[in-house]
Amino acid sequence: MTDRVQINQLADHVGAEVTLAGWLFGQRKGGKVIFLLVRDGTGLCQCVVSADTESAFANATTLTQESSLRLSGLVRQDDRAPGGYEIAVTAVEPVQLADEYPITRKPHGIDFLMNHRHLWLRSPRQTAILRIRHRLIRAMRDFFDQRGFTLIDTPILTPGAAEGAGTLFPVDYFGDEVYLAQTGQLYLESAAMALGKVYCFGPTFRAEKSKTRRHLTEFWMIEPEIAFAELPDLANLAEEFICALVHAALTDCRAELETLERDLEPLQRIQAPFPRITYSEAVERLHSDALHEQLEAALTADRERLNAWRAELEQTEAERAAARKGWQQERLDRTLHQLRERIRELEADLQNRPLHIEQAKQFAWGKDLGGDEETILSRQYDRPVIITHYPRDVKAFYMKPDPNDPRVVLNLDVIAPEGYGEIIGGSQREEDADALLARIDAEEMTPDSYQWYLDLRRYGSVPHGGFGLGVERTVAWICGLRHIRETIPFPRLMGRLTP
Ligand code: 4AD
Ligand code: MG
Repeated sequence: MTDRVQINQLADHVGAEVTLAGWLFGQRKGGKVIFLLVRDGTGLCQCVVSADTESAFANATTLTQESSLRLSGLVRQDDRAPGGYEIAVTAVEPVQLADEYPITRKPHGIDFLMNHRHLWLRSPRQTAILRIRHRLIRAMRDFFDQRGFTLIDTPILTPGAAEGAGTLFPVDYFGDEVYLAQTGQLYLESAAMALGKVYCFGPTFRAEKSKTRRHLTEFWMIEPEIAFAELPDLANLAEEFICALVHAALTDCRAELETLERDLEPLQRIQAPFPRITYSEAVERLHSDALHEQLEAALTADRERLNAWRAELEQTEAERAAARKGWQQERLDRTLHQLRERIRELEADLQNRPLHIEQAKQFAWGKDLGGDEETILSRQYDRPVIITHYPRDVKAFYMKPDPNDPRVVLNLDVIAPEGYGEIIGGSQREEDADALLARIDAEEMTPDSYQWYLDLRRYGSVPHGGFGLGVERTVAWICGLRHIRETIPFPRLMGRLTP
């Protein structure tokens, strides 16, 4: 066999004989030719095997879905082929003939796919998501690297809580109870006093007892921390950061976003400045008549949408009953599966909406904004909204109270548009040792575990702050995924730890 090339490099080899190594994604037989659809991790390529090349043809007929193989042939440009190139095959060498592959062209339920996550990763949708995730992570690191931040690796085994005791995962540490890190922030603050501008990037753990489409128990977070920074600096940085991420995806991941059928329009609108409102203004908005008229109108429109989908479902079911050809039935089954899923989701959503509207009307100042309120608020804007000054009592102990109104803290949450909810949480930190110690006492935390953290306030304390961006929520938003479970290779959720 000749030199091995990747499918995404075929353009450089038109007219040449090359070798591909990959897996059989699908095949179609047409009389004296077999069309092999081969994937190699960089793309899909149609490879045409003619009965004239006897041994290649004989080998091709043995290949089952997801068999691994090497093949050689001549690269031809062909605008009709997926990717724009095809290979006229001269030799096929099976590497391993796959057992009957469990994931077929038939529609599968989400539990089945999650149980086969180790294989599901090979599908074009999943590889598109993983590539976008990779590109976004690179953009995140580049963003801070280019601005003079130093990467700090913070510990995963930690002696105490940072984000509330309710979501700690305990670990037995030679007889002592320690916890998986909920954040790298406290350690990062120490490094900020050493280096000025720092960031950490790693897995974080929350024993969230919530089965929502936004919560993982293990997720990745990137957290910058800056000495001599105040709340407006943090808001500006968060805004610039998010714009850079969206820009990277739009510039470098067009093909992947297309595979996901992501509507690009809402992403293209993501530009500075983002609206900034305080928590109190957000609460006023939740109470406003104008908002409620809008919500009711949207509810009516969605009910009409549901009826239209139901009519479409009925019609498609009739078409399916009349379909005679196998490929027609298969195609219609997939359409039906998608339609039913969409209908089921909208039905569930519509069932909850009147309650959410009522809850928004009665939302009491002092409560934390939940996912439902965030969704309602975010739908009022075409770009992320920065909400600041939350009530002190619903936020973490380290946040600095507003000197002008100590009931609230100098924090920010960034809410993504299109109903994706909070993607960034951060704050200016309490920099006074006595005030911080009072908070630690008030929250009934153990002051002894935080002496080192208090030291940062005793030896050259400065105003400082930072934020954390959740990688998976950001990937879900940019990819337009309804659920966070597809944004990480092997999701850990309440009720799911395998594979
Ligand atoms: O708002 P959070 O809890 O903030 C912190 O952990 C701070 N210590 C960050 C800092 O100031 N350095 O979490 C930050 C972000 C959220 O906005 C969200 O994107 C993500 O982390 N996140 C989760 N993502 C998935 N599943 C969960 N259970 C998450 N909890 C938080
Ligand atoms: Mg938060």
